Amino acid sequence: MNSSDTVLVTESISRDGLQSLGAVVPTEAKVHLIRQLISSGLGSFDAVSFVNPKVVPNMADGTEVIAGLADVRDGVELAGLVPNLRGLEAAVDAGVDTIGLLTAASDTFNLRNINATVEEAMERIRSVLERVPGEIDVRAYVSTITHCPYEGPTDPARVAELTERLIEWGVDWVYLGETLGRGTPDDVERVLNRVFEVAPPDRIGVHFHDTFGQGVANTHLSLQRGIRRLDSSAGGLGGCPFAPGAAGNVATEDVLWLLDGMGLKHGVDATTVARAARAFAAEQRIAIRSKANEALLAGQEVG
Ligand code: HMG
Ligand code: MG
Repeated sequence: MNSSDTVLVTESISRDGLQSLGAVVPTEAKVHLIRQLISSGLGSFDAVSFVNPKVVPNMADGTEVIAGLADVRDGVELAGLVPNLRGLEAAVDAGVDTIGLLTAASDTFNLRNINATVEEAMERIRSVLERVPGEIDVRAYVSTITHCPYEGPTDPARVAELTERLIEWGVDWVYLGETLGRGTPDDVERVLNRVFEVAPPDRIGVHFHDTFGQGVANTHLSLQRGIRRLDSSAGGLGGCPFAPGAAGNVATEDVLWLLDGMGLKHGVDATTVARAARAFAAEQRIAIRSKANEALLAGQEVG
């Protein structure tokens, strides 16, 4: 059990939040958004992806987004998603602090997402790990932890087996991705029970989508089980282009309210997050999905 009272909240709006959008958001708008969010106290960002821009056009400018934040990086972690060696090269050149490697627990989603079976993706991860410079931290995402959009329920034993190998290979943290937002706390608990047989809670992060409104409940369960690393997205934006029907990530504002209620520290001002998300969404004409955002800004003019 992890008894730390401090939680690392990693903000994913500029990566997961934007990757499925049809309209391309200008680089300056992304940089401005992250700057606003840094001013809220957020210190960790799942900021960009180094993936094929023909597949995910909104992630074509990862290098430029990182460059646009050069003067505000003190004490701020900027992460980039890396699907292969070419992505690693781009991430290192851009100067990210952390890379996010990825596989799913199911072959069909993985093939559609990154054109690799799970075992092929694990081999890619291994070849990237052999070349990661020592100063860069490494997280590895295991997606579809409870359900695959194409294959149905996922076997928790498969998630645990992948987690064990990734930790053995030297990944700093494995992030469990509930990509579809279908899983309930009972589903997540079954996964955590198996994962904790092979890795301690301080090597595990969670990344919940909120399609069926289970994101906060799943986050609560994970915190109760000792996890202290969470991804979330301001305004609840997000989704994966290869997970049809999946809604955005659990909203950062909703998670911060939960953390306050549990007496856990995070160092973030939720109202500043809410305002930044609301103004960005209004400018880009995107609908946001966060009950805490609405409640925090009730009656205020924003954007
Ligand atoms: P591939 O088809 O195996 O790669 O794609 P390839 O080597 O055959 O190359 C195909 C094309 O991609 C070529 O371009 C390469 O140059 C280009 P073309 O000749 O056709 O013009 N390419 C690249 N371009 C830029 N950066 C690269 C790169 N690599 C190849 N690194 C690949 C493999 C993984 C690249 C492709 O399938 C891809 O980009 N997929 C990205 C999918 C993606 O971004 N999905 C969303 C993120 S995952 C997610 O959201 C889940 C998560 O949030 C957790 C959760 O919710 O569970 C993390
Ligand atoms: Mg995601």
